Amino acid sequence: MESTINFVDDSLLKKVPSWRDYLAAKVGFRNHWYPIKLSREIGESQVVKATVCGENILLKRIDGKVFAIRDRCIHRGVPLSEKLECYSKGTITCWYHGFTYKWENGELCDILASPDSRAIGRRSIKTYPVEEAKGVVFVFVGDIDTTPHPLSEDVPPMFLDADMALEGDSYMVDSNWRVGCENGFDGLHVYIHRTSPLVNNTQRSLPIGHTAQSGKIELLEEDGKPKGVYDAFAHHDVLWDGSVEGEVVVKGVRSNRTDGAPTRTTAASLWLPGVLRVDDFPDQDRHQFEWYVPVTEDTHYYLIMIGKRVSNKEEEAEHVQEFWNRWKRVSLDGFNNQDIEARLALQKFYKRDRAWLEEILIEGDHPIVKWRELCHRHNRGVQSPDNL
Ligand code: FES
Ligand SMILES: [Fe+2]
Repeated sequence: MESTINFVDDSLLKKVPSWRDYLAAKVGFRNHWYPIKLSREIGESQVVKATVCGENILLKRIDGKVFAIRDRCIHRGVPLSEKLECYSKGTITCWYHGFTYKWENGELCDILASPDSRAIGRRSIKTYPVEEAKGVVFVFVGDIDTTPHPLSEDVPPMFLDADMALEGDSYMVDSNWRVGCENGFDGLHVYIHRTSPLVNNTQRSLPIGHTAQSGKIELLEEDGKPKGVYDAFAHHDVLWDGSVEGEVVVKGVRSNRTDGAPTRTTAASLWLPGVLRVDDFPDQDRHQFEWYVPVTEDTHYYLIMIGKRVSNKEEEAEHVQEFWNRWKRVSLDGFNNQDIEARLALQKFYKRDRAWLEEILIEGDHPIVKWRELCHRHNRGVQSPDNL
């Protein structure tokens, strides 16, 4: 998998000086925190495989804490996961010649086939810093000697708030991660969602688009804080009717809700390293967080977490129940599946690097360009072939 990534040609990169790194970041950015699994997917003593930014990783929970190492033996490079051998709680042994590593720090602590080797105690396999928060396991995909930035700089504001209850689910999507980000953040693509069961279920309004408001986005670039682009839909002029040659052919949905509650999504914001927050979605007082994590050049891990502020354990349990009884079916599988469809179609075009220069963007796509430029300015390194 790792050797098949075709990195972007220099001649193309030169053509987009203001978002060059974004075009180059086919398998993501280095030195950022990425979600890799849901906590519930890694039980005690279980060894689990995952790929992030093209790097194959193994995870294990030991006494409650998750550790992560590279799934590639330092000796002759074979994947340890090919045949898992773990002879003690804290170690993993390569099935080929018995190189044995400590999960905690990657140290080569024994070689079964050559116990007197001088490499023992001197060499180590790559380990990844791990943090677990809100039911999500994050890894820092970075350089060995880089001290990770705080996780709070790489997740959208609100996600880590103590009173934010969260529940979610994940999917593998066969498109590049950038296609995922841009589909999620795209203010004009509300057009595809008019047929979603979510519209009825929440009695929400769903316009078919909005007039071009290119100046009305906010860039968040303060030092030591998450970096993102914020688009407040609430400020936009909403479009309810779609016309062809002067005839209305498609109508948006206007809410008939009478409880006075806001019936529209109020804002979307997109944050490094590729995570969206949608406010008042899938319903008022909810926040949807979605990550588009680079896996390979044409696959991303799509993690959706729905959050709600709660004041006690009962409210938290209610929110979790609501996720499984309502949002999973109506929103994730009934709304975001439309996004997945769109991404698979986009991928047919954007899989060619040149396509990024052939697209014809319009006024309403301005926030997407701002996102690309923000990534160029604030990423902590482009994932390159040297790391794979
Ligand atoms: S390749 Fe792993 S021990 Fe030799
Ligand atoms: Fe969407």
